[in-house]
Amino acid sequence: MIAQTEPRADAAEGIVGTLSHPEGPALTVRTVTNADVEGLDALFQGLPSKDRYHRFFHFCHPARRFLEQLTRAADEGGYRLVPAVSGAGGALVAEAGYAILPDGDGEFALTVAPGWQGWRLGRRLLGAVVAAAAARGVPNLQADIMADNTRMLALLRRRGYVTLARELSEMRIAIGAAQPARRRQPGNADRLGPLVPGTLASCTPTA
Ligand SMILES: CC(C)(COP(=O)(O)OP(=O)(O)OC[C@H]1O[C@@H](n2cnc3c(N)ncnc32)[C@H](O)[C@@H]1OP(=O)(O)O)[C@@H](O)C(=O)NCCC(=O)NCCS
Repeated sequence: MIAQTEPRADAAEGIVGTLSHPEGPALTVRTVTNADVEGLDALFQGLPSKDRYHRFFHFCHPARRFLEQLTRAADEGGYRLVPAVSGAGGALVAEAGYAILPDGDGEFALTVAPGWQGWRLGRRLLGAVVAAAAARGVPNLQADIMADNTRMLALLRRRGYVTLARELSEMRIAIGAAQPARRRQPGNADRLGPLVPGTLASCTPTA
């Protein structure tokens, strides 16, 4: 099922777009602010253990200092998006972004709340983060990924990731920020573009 979307661009509020699908409320996708600490806290609190492990490589809830650091992404040269249920005080349903590494690449990570997984929100957000990195001259995005994180690896495969290092249960990968995502095969086409600033975006189910 394909969702309808609305274009929206309000640089003053950091809004990069709105997103909707027929089985849930509309989402407003915007850049993170320092008012999002509690929202990020709630997002991560709501993750099942396995998702938390895939995101943080341990089962503990992230410390407040870490959450605060996520909200300072732009101050430190990075970029982070937080889609929230549209309307005042709407809950955050995902976060995606990167921090700058000493070599100039970005270190990226993303999380989609359990109730929103499988609607290609992850793919939209990764596309938006890659586009933001490319626009800012960040050549590559790197990440540590658990080897059993099949959904994340499916997302990355589409971007032609390279493996920088590999251990038994995890790997260090990189994707080129300027490299376009691979298209789906004919007959399995998703005709909707990625979520990038100022363009339409939408969610489609992946299963
Ligand atoms: C990984 C994560 C961000 C994906 O978000 P999502 O919105 O559910 O992902 P999407 O709906 O965009 O689907 C991603 C891909 O996984 C595939 N997929 C869906 N369900 C799958 C499954 N059970 N097994 C394997 N692949 C699956 C989809 O087909 C899609 O691939 P495609 O684009 O080639 O079709 C989300 O599952 C998550 O937050 N996980 C916990 C945190 C985490 O692992 N973060 C990544 C570490 S940085």
